[in-house]
Amino acid sequence: MVVTKQENQTEITEFHLVGFVGLGDLQVPVFCLFLLIYLVTMVGNILIILLVVIDPQLHTPMYLFLGNLSCLEICYSSNILPMILANVLYGGQRTISVIGCILQHCLFGLLAATECCLLVAMSYDRYVAICKPLHYTILMNNRVCLQFIAGSWIHSSFIMSIILYLMGQLKFCGPSEINHFFCELHPILKIACSDTHLIELVTISLSALCILFPFFLTLASYILIISTIMKMSSVSGRKKAFSTCSSHLMVVSIFYGTMIIVYVLPKTDVLQNINKVLSLFYTIVTPLFNPLIYSLRNREVKEALRKAVEKLYLFL
Ligand SMILES: *[C@@H]1O[C@H](CO)[C@@H](O)[C@H](O)[C@H]1NC(C)=O
Repeated sequence: MVVTKQENQTEITEFHLVGFVGLGDLQVPVFCLFLLIYLVTMVGNILIILLVVIDPQLHTPMYLFLGNLSCLEICYSSNILPMILANVLYGGQRTISVIGCILQHCLFGLLAATECCLLVAMSYDRYVAICKPLHYTILMNNRVCLQFIAGSWIHSSFIMSIILYLMGQLKFCGPSEINHFFCELHPILKIACSDTHLIELVTISLSALCILFPFFLTLASYILIISTIMKMSSVSGRKKAFSTCSSHLMVVSIFYGTMIIVYVLPKTDVLQNINKVLSLFYTIVTPLFNPLIYSLRNREVKEALRKAVEKLYLFL
């Protein structure tokens, strides 16, 4: 470990992630489980991107959003899951540099904040399609879609550069153990030896802005959609639309709900261990289920998949 002297304190330059220490006999099954989750996440999301890119019928805002969401999920899982796998395998032996850890957290934050914006855009797209079908092409077209996507990235980059700057100022002088399975904000702040009041205040306000605000917008869109669906005359159409919406609403609530508990609620010792489990939901479960829930239950995507498989057969 590299040690430098500064202000009479030994500054540490490497962290140990000890979130998965002491698994014992469970080490191999847990490793296999996470590996499987990673592979399924990658395959599911890559499949969606391929379908959206290949099939011209899927070049509509809804599917462009989905394709972009899948790209995002791939980066998101690849930022976190390989590290979890290494930690399960090596226990607390593996180290990560302080800078690497801060960058990992900020990349995670960037992708998560962008995902929040994309989820708003996707629910707005469905709201316009279902509640204002006559205005759909004016309110939502490929250009608006591009603006939404670019806006999401710019907004999140701006927010995360503030956090990156503040985290870059932190000093660490031990202990070097982070009680988590990836470089999560609060476990890092807990072991910092500089004053963390400012960064805590800033992250709480920014996460409220980036999580609560999109959450309420998404929720509002789905409530309007569901109330419109309830007024539909066809029972089968009502059932189908309702089941689609409620499954979207479920993954969205899990994603936002767990993030709100971890980032926005006050930090107490009781919540600490629960938060470790909750963060599994927004880091691992959402990227795994999003492609399944948003696409593979969808008739047009199934049709595109069937056509693609047929083409592949002819080709072979
Ligand atoms: C992401 O969105 C942009 C802008 O709408 C679109 O051009 C691009 O094809 C999308 N990417 C994927 C993989 O769907």
